[in-house]
Parts: sequence; structure tokens; C-alpha cells
Amino acid sequence: MGDSLPRHVGIIMDGNGRWAKQRGLPRTEGHKQGAEVFERICDHCAELGIPCVTFYAFSTENWARPPGEVAAIMDLLRHWLRKAEEREGENRRRGIRLRFIGELSALPEDIQSLAADAEDHTRAHTRTICNLAVNYGGRLEILRAAQTLAAQCQTGARNAIDLTEEDIAAQLYTPEYPDVDLLIRPSGEKRLSNFLLWQAAYAEFWYADTLWPDFTTAHFEQALADFAKRSRRYGG
Ligand code: IPE
Ligand code: IPE
Ligand code: MG
Repeated sequence: MGDSLPRHVGIIMDGNGRWAKQRGLPRTEGHKQGAEVFERICDHCAELGIPCVTFYAFSTENWARPPGEVAAIMDLLRHWLRKAEEREGENRRRGIRLRFIGELSALPEDIQSLAADAEDHTRAHTRTICNLAVNYGGRLEILRAAQTLAAQCQTGARNAIDLTEEDIAAQLYTPEYPDVDLLIRPSGEKRLSNFLLWQAAYAEFWYADTLWPDFTTAHFEQALADFAKRSRRYGG
């Protein structure tokens, strides 16, 4: 695959609730299964040497879910972070660096501290950045960048008229990441749902009806194979 491997893959992990409903299970069971698929796909990205992958785990809009469901998702995140601590050697061997994007300050404090530890402990790993978007919203991300730049203009540190696209990109959560090359959304939905709005400007979209808990490395390979055949023109 070589040159045609995407540098940054975005994945909208969707369909957990429907997966559970189909089986007569509570939605939280779907999230639990989805969390396992997330680990498998993350490991697979490292095996393939994909430099960066961003998983959409919880959006700024997902707070509108019933409190019990939100709490169950937070519990899964907490559980996974604790496991990541135990898996430190494994992450080192695989070269997985863990990162988080989103407004983490709104999360329970123990999760914030576990997330900071995970980032610290994996900082030196260089094969694959596994980026988790939690309490993430693309519009909020751009708003935050605009606020920072506006404040700098107000103090005279910058001139509004001279601002560039690079200046905005530098204020996003992902300043050092390449733009999204391939955006994967399972579950049959064909929308961005506020994910990486700026970074996915020229991303190739890949959809499947498969629900996220049923998503396998074979689906991922298919997405990569389709991506390799796309002709990207960037408006030229
Ligand atoms: C994605 O699955 C997980 C989150 C948004 C946290 P959903 O919970 O959205 O599952 P569906 O879309 O209702 O099936
Ligand atoms: C997007 O899925 C958010 C995550 C997967 C974390 P949603 O299920 O929240 O999106 P909509 O409501 O279908 O647009
Ligand atoms: Mg959904």
C-alpha cells in the first residue's frame, strides 16, 4: 500500500445503540462492545504504521443523552484509561502514542488526570498517534481558535488583516497533525456530526452500513483499499 496509506484517518464510531437494540440489550452494552472494537482498530493502525488516527468517542452534543448513558460512557473511558496504564509495555512495543482532543476540562477530574497520565506515559512512542476526541465539537474548536486570535489582535500582538489559514490551524487542538485524508463512518449515516470540520476539508469519505460494534479489521482494510483508488484533486 506504501504511498497510498493515509497519514491521518478519522473514525466516527457510530451505531452502538442500534447494535444493542437489535439484540434486545441496553444501549450501554453496545458502547461496551464498541470500546473493544476501538482497541482492536487502534492496534491495527499501529500494525499498519498509520501515523495518526482520530476516534470520535463523545461529542459536545452527546451531553444531551440520558444521564445514565453519559455516565456509562464515562465509566468505559475511565476503565479503558486504567487498562492503558497497565498496557504501558504493550503500547510501547506497538509504538502507540495516546492523545486527547476536545474540552477535557468538563470531564470528571479523575478522567482528566488519567488522560494526562496516558499522554505523558506514551509521549515518546512514534509509530501511531491514537487520538481520542472526547467532549469534542468542530465548531467549538474553531470558536476557541477565533477567541484566542481575537484576543491577540486586541492586545496588538497581531493584525486581524494579516491572519492566515495557518494561524487558525495553529490554534486548533491538532496543530501538529496532518489534515484528515480518510474519514470513516460506519452505521449508515452520511454526515460529519461536527467532527474535525476544519481538518477534514479535503478528506475522502468512506461509509458502511455495518454498525461500529460489528466493524472489523477487514472493513478497515476495505476502506484503505478504496482510499488507495481515489483520485484526489484538491480543486485543481
Ligand atoms: C456512537 O453510538 C457512540 C456515541 C455517540 C457516544 P451511538 O450511541 O450514537 O449509537 P446509535 O447511533 O444510537 O446507534
Ligand atoms: C457522532 O455520533 C458522535 C460520536 C460518534 C461520538 P452521533 O450518534 O452523536 O451523531 P448523530 O446524532 O447521528 O448526528
Ligand atoms: Mg449515533
